[in-house]
Amino acid sequence: MAKEKTLDDLFLDTLKDIYYAEKKILKALPKMARAASSADLKAAFEKHKDETDGHVERLQQVFELLGKRAQGKTCPAIDGIIEEGEEIIEEFKGTPALDAGLISAAQAVEHYEITRYGTLKRWAEVLGMSDAAKLLEQTLGEESMTDEVLTGLADASANEMAKAA
Ligand SMILES: [Fe+2]
Ligand SMILES: [Fe+2]
Repeated sequence: MAKEKTLDDLFLDTLKDIYYAEKKILKALPKMARAASSADLKAAFEKHKDETDGHVERLQQVFELLGKRAQGKTCPAIDGIIEEGEEIIEEFKGTPALDAGLISAAQAVEHYEITRYGTLKRWAEVLGMSDAAKLLEQTLGEESMTDEVLTGLADASANEMAKAA
């Protein structure tokens, strides 16, 4: 019979999933910053790259609280989301629609992170790991804020710029 699996196993598995994802995002953000045409969008990507360094560190702290080695597990979802972002860079380079496309790709990443951190924070609470829950909540807040900043940039200029003249 299969070994009983519990919320602890789900928690650890999902932690490995987002750890893998954050490391991929860390590599993708400088490429997105380089690709962006507006200075504001470049700056937003660069700022979030620095925050993402902190997300990786917080995850390492959560692994430590669990007494486990920090380890990633391939996450096909983030691989696909990042691949779509790369396609946008390739296909919209040099066009007025590039920044709107980059913002949409970045928001797909943020929303993926928000769903993961939202779940992990809840599970940490249920498992009585309040220190881990606090760390996960801090990152969740930064992901949500980034999502809002991106919406602001889309509304302020990128979407209008992308519309045909
Ligand atoms: Fe993150
Ligand atoms: Fe993020």
